[in-house]
Amino acid sequence: MTKYDVKRAVIPCAGRGTRFLPVTKGTPKEMCPIVDKPTLDYIVDECIDGGVSDILFILSEGKEDIKRYYSLDKEYEKELIEKGKEEFASLINKLASKARFHFTIQHELLGLGHAVLQAKEFVKDENFIVCCGDDICLYDDLAPSKQLIEAFKETKGHTIVGGQKVEHEMISKYGCMDIDSKINDRLYSLKGIVEKPRVEEATSDFASLGKWVFNSKIFEYLEKTPKGANEEIQLTDAIALLMKDDRVYFYDFVGKRYDCGDKLGYLEAIVDVALKRDDLKDSFKEFLKEKKF
Ligand code: UTP
Repeated sequence: MTKYDVKRAVIPCAGRGTRFLPVTKGTPKEMCPIVDKPTLDYIVDECIDGGVSDILFILSEGKEDIKRYYSLDKEYEKELIEKGKEEFASLINKLASKARFHFTIQHELLGLGHAVLQAKEFVKDENFIVCCGDDICLYDDLAPSKQLIEAFKETKGHTIVGGQKVEHEMISKYGCMDIDSKINDRLYSLKGIVEKPRVEEATSDFASLGKWVFNSKIFEYLEKTPKGANEEIQLTDAIALLMKDDRVYFYDFVGKRYDCGDKLGYLEAIVDVALKRDDLKDSFKEFLKEKKF
């Protein structure tokens, strides 16, 4: 392993998902299906496409479904084989073995920064990627996670904030970049980052969209980040602190991103995934054509 390799991923999934009530009273939003796979599994596959081998899920009480989904179930596998359904048996076996999975609980929901802090022991002194558990990306070539990890190597191990340009009026929903200079086509160095600015105060339309690559120094800064907006420890605030001592970069990744913690984003993801699937796209297109809007 070289100094800038990234083999570990952290996926925060502890949030309450209030925007998706009432379903999230009984089911984690990360487990809501996009066709036949839970939202979370698209993120896991993206991390694996990025070259990650170990994935830590940050859970909260009541999200045990996630752990069950990624654990071996030899009894169920046996049952499927006995019923002649080998294909499904191998499907569920592969789920549990496609990466090494780890789980920890965030006992108090004190924000995304606090969720990432729970990964300190898992990360130790390695580098890691963080991908939010409700943000999926569809891509044709390089996985966005891979693009960010390549950018991390290119900057010799500096923090990479992944994101894209959003419509100007939407920037107040996101972490907003204050660009220092353009390094290349997609990579920018930053001079500031502000969580959810007012539209008229935004310094750019570049938004942080649920993916970051860090070295282990971020934990020092998370530990000294005070509670900010909503009385939560904000990851953006920790990055802003780190920026006082170190260079931080923004990478404008290629890929279509969906906020599956939002109802419309979730529906868009279902439609686009169905339209990409060989087993569904033709009949689904027919169904959509018949709709009279
Ligand atoms: P969100 O801002 O989407 O919050 O969190 P939420 O609680 O999941 O959803 P709403 O806003 O109530 O509908 C962004 C990411 O950070 C994780 C969430 O699970 C999601 O992946 N998160 C947030 C935590 O893991 N812990 C927290 O304390 C807060």
